[in-house]
Amino acid sequence: MSSNIRPETMERITNFELANAFIDEQVKEIRAQVGDRKVLLALSGGVDSSVVAALLIKAIGKQLVCVHVNHGLMRKGESEAVIDMFGNTLEANLIYIDATDRYLDLLAGVSDPESKRKIIGKEFIEIFAEEARKLEGIDFLAQGTIYPDILESVKAAEGKKAVKSHHNVGGLPEDLKFELVEPIKLLFKDEVRVVGEALGLPHAMVYRQPFPGPGLGVRCLGAITRDRLHALREADAILRDEFDKCGLAEKVWQYFVVIPDIKSVGVKDDSRYEGWPAIIRAVNTKDAMTASIEEIPYAVLHKICARITSEVEGINRVLYDITPKPTGTIEWE
Ligand code: XMP
Repeated sequence: MSSNIRPETMERITNFELANAFIDEQVKEIRAQVGDRKVLLALSGGVDSSVVAALLIKAIGKQLVCVHVNHGLMRKGESEAVIDMFGNTLEANLIYIDATDRYLDLLAGVSDPESKRKIIGKEFIEIFAEEARKLEGIDFLAQGTIYPDILESVKAAEGKKAVKSHHNVGGLPEDLKFELVEPIKLLFKDEVRVVGEALGLPHAMVYRQPFPGPGLGVRCLGAITRDRLHALREADAILRDEFDKCGLAEKVWQYFVVIPDIKSVGVKDDSRYEGWPAIIRAVNTKDAMTASIEEIPYAVLHKICARITSEVEGINRVLYDITPKPTGTIEWE
């Protein structure tokens, strides 16, 4: 599947039978392309890189080397889930790098959103390149490129203006020359999910809501501090837990917490208590270009508010963002 154009005759993968046929075909193609050589993959734990990892493990086993960089901006439990699934269950060749301190030191005092994105993207490439140089005899780089990415790059090449500089794994230094392996590049997201389930990946991993490359970094508004980032991660985990319990997780496209760098006066145990507000965002969209607000029942909002303000140190209010896109973008930064 070397062409970047999806043939009109290609059937949409909507069930396990079609997914299994795709998997068999890809396993053959990957083996033919790679032979007995080695492949490197940046495994973020998102749907696309996870499906590519599972496909390659099926095709070439330990010839795949996965690198998971924890930039310290992951959601609660995410890096652990990657280690558990790929390192333990699938026994993949997995290199885990905890780069939390390196990122948070670089980001200290940086408040401009685009500068934050650039630092996070550039550092990722540097860490990944460092690891790639340490490993010997790797000829291929696998990527979780999907069809919308290819359509997006066509638009970018036509000079359409972007609102935010979304980062991905592209742009490795010149000395690192790899041949690309992109087994899902002609698939749409819904097809990637069907293939993921057919490969035996857990439902939660395959249906994981989209998560921006810069992670919690663009939800901890302004200059990131460790204590506010910690509060954000805990509050976000509570929101996800409550959405899972009431069935909203299945209905809402993207939902998360944002914490601005402001404090307000509150009261706790009869004393003045200055804390940050946790802002809840829950949106539905088809293509992320426009988005509508999901109506969260008041009872659910009350429960989330009660849990966040009592369980998370540093937060004394919970706000609910009811702004569609436009005028708000989905993320706050
Ligand atoms: P916005 O905020 O532009 O978000 O309405 C649209 C979608 O893109 C995600 N997003 C990003 N994804 N790198 C990414 O990989 C980024 O820098 C980035 N910024 C926003 C956002 O989560 C939403 O799904």
